[in-house]
Amino acid sequence: MAHVVATRPLVENGLSELQNEHTVTISEPPEEETWSEDELIDVVGDAEVLLSVLADPVTERVLDAAPNLGMVSQYAVGIDNIDLTAAEQNDVVVTHTPGVLTDATADQTWALLLAVARHLKAADRYVRDGRFDRWETTLLLGTELSGKTMGIVGLGRIGAAVARRALGFGMDVVYHNRERANPTVERQTNARYVELDELLETSDVVSLHCPLNDDSHHLIDADALARMKDSALLVNTARGAVVDEDALVEALAIDEIAGAGLDVFEDEPDVHPDLLDRDRVVLAPHLGSATTETRRKMANMCVEAIQAYTNGADDIPHRVV
Ligand code: DGY
Repeated sequence: MAHVVATRPLVENGLSELQNEHTVTISEPPEEETWSEDELIDVVGDAEVLLSVLADPVTERVLDAAPNLGMVSQYAVGIDNIDLTAAEQNDVVVTHTPGVLTDATADQTWALLLAVARHLKAADRYVRDGRFDRWETTLLLGTELSGKTMGIVGLGRIGAAVARRALGFGMDVVYHNRERANPTVERQTNARYVELDELLETSDVVSLHCPLNDDSHHLIDADALARMKDSALLVNTARGAVVDEDALVEALAIDEIAGAGLDVFEDEPDVHPDLLDRDRVVLAPHLGSATTETRRKMANMCVEAIQAYTNGADDIPHRVV
């Protein structure tokens, strides 16, 4: 029997399967708050297994302070909140939930893109404000996507799913990765590899799907934004800090790009105040994987990995460390 601590309740009591065999403690930070490092140390306590979410700072300090911790099961695909080097040093197994949130996140990317391209935020407000009194020839003219170029930064699972949807919309797709994607993925997505500068200069939509790491931190900075077309739209469903948010605010203010759809923020859950009142910026509170189906599958993957770990299996599924 192990002590499993979760830092949040999961959809449909997703850890219930573990409750027969293990002691499961479900914690929850006070409303509108996330766990700080010190609080997380207390939350973990004597647990052998921690189920973390992307807002939890699973740092070296937290890992060093946890006397019995042997596993961190991350309820997300992104693991940039976990110090993987410290996990390795502390012999802590880390797992995550790849694959199951691909379609949900790709759909969210398109939801944001279409909302920005067709002014849905302003359109909704226009109707609610009672201003829809006649059909106008020039009211809220948007950007057509068909025939345009989508530039995908990071053609991994999610990037490829976004690219496949782009084909359905009649868009050309270019991509940039640290390493070229394999030929099958390129064929399936009809995506052409280009250098980042070319992607930025030629794309009508730039969509970010790379993980956050030292190389991708502020990848979209003032220089990158200046390279983009002034009609271009930027969509970020990856991680907030891939974009320099101050530079983005400035680029929008001087019409260096036309709009943005943002699911993630540099200082999440805080949002740069100057993004809040821009019509051509659509914001969402990190909802990439937020469908019932996907969140259920993510819970199942965590349970599967935790069971393998607690049963002493050699092969722990979805393991990164
Ligand atoms: C992830 O799993 O990394 C997503 O950002 C969660 O929505």
